[in-house]
Amino acid sequence: MARRRQLYEGKAKILFEGPEPGTLVQYFKDDASAGNGVKKGVITGKGVLNNRISEYLMLKLHDIGIPTHFVRRLNMREQLIREVEIIPLEVVIRNVAAGSISKRLGIPEGTRLPRSILEYYYKNDALNDPMVSEEHITAFDWAAPQDLDDINALALRTNDFLSGIFQGIGIQLVDFKLEFGRLWEGEEMRIVLADEISPDNCRLWDAKTSEKLDKDRFRRDMGRVEEAYQEVARRLGILPEAGNGDLKGPEVMQ
Ligand SMILES: Nc1ncnc2c1ncn2[C@@H]1O[C@H](COP(=O)(O)OP(=O)(O)O)[C@@H](O)[C@H]1O
Ligand SMILES: [Mg+2]
Repeated sequence: MARRRQLYEGKAKILFEGPEPGTLVQYFKDDASAGNGVKKGVITGKGVLNNRISEYLMLKLHDIGIPTHFVRRLNMREQLIREVEIIPLEVVIRNVAAGSISKRLGIPEGTRLPRSILEYYYKNDALNDPMVSEEHITAFDWAAPQDLDDINALALRTNDFLSGIFQGIGIQLVDFKLEFGRLWEGEEMRIVLADEISPDNCRLWDAKTSEKLDKDRFRRDMGRVEEAYQEVARRLGILPEAGNGDLKGPEVMQ
């Protein structure tokens, strides 16, 4: 395959120019980071699994009418996506207290929240992704009020649907982070789901034992990190056909 121009290297993924205008290739690395890059490591096979898991979930969301950037998976570590204008927000949806909400508000981890709670963080590594309110978002024009309405509705529908999918395989969707982007089609603009949905940005607990099956195992040095990602893929019925064969995957082409 022809060498592609690399446009951006992030903490977990690399974006390459796509084959057609308006498309990108998203390459999933095994690199893991936590605390805004303070803790770094490698989770062997993570890229392959996240590529598959995100493909699976985005296709399911597409089926129920939630627009996403996903076009198709290209290989073990790459997927073709529509290029969008990323809205600089991390949208967090919480069903059960864990992580920062437990720390900040003193709610013990595992407490079911009275209802699903949305939080917004300004996506800016230099500022450590600070929490912001709808007021900040519209005042600074990161998103228009109408965009924010769409984002909220999409986030809540995504939460309902994903909660059901995970419940069906014995997993509790504790919380997760979404990113959205603007997709232009001529004069028309639509807000679509972008980035990825995977154990990197979801808290997933076994429904019976509350065992953590997500990146918290890496953040908190709990061990069996690879196994947790594999378990999520296995329960979704999408462990890569080749088993663990290509979990290391090809080298990135520069
Ligand atoms: N469809 C898309 N179009 C343009 N940019 C995207 C799209 N989907 C995701 N991105 C961006 O690509 C990057 C993915 O790489 P990642 O390693 O997650 O980066 P980061 O370290 O910035 O989180 C993110 O910055 C994300 O906002
Ligand atoms: Mg990211």
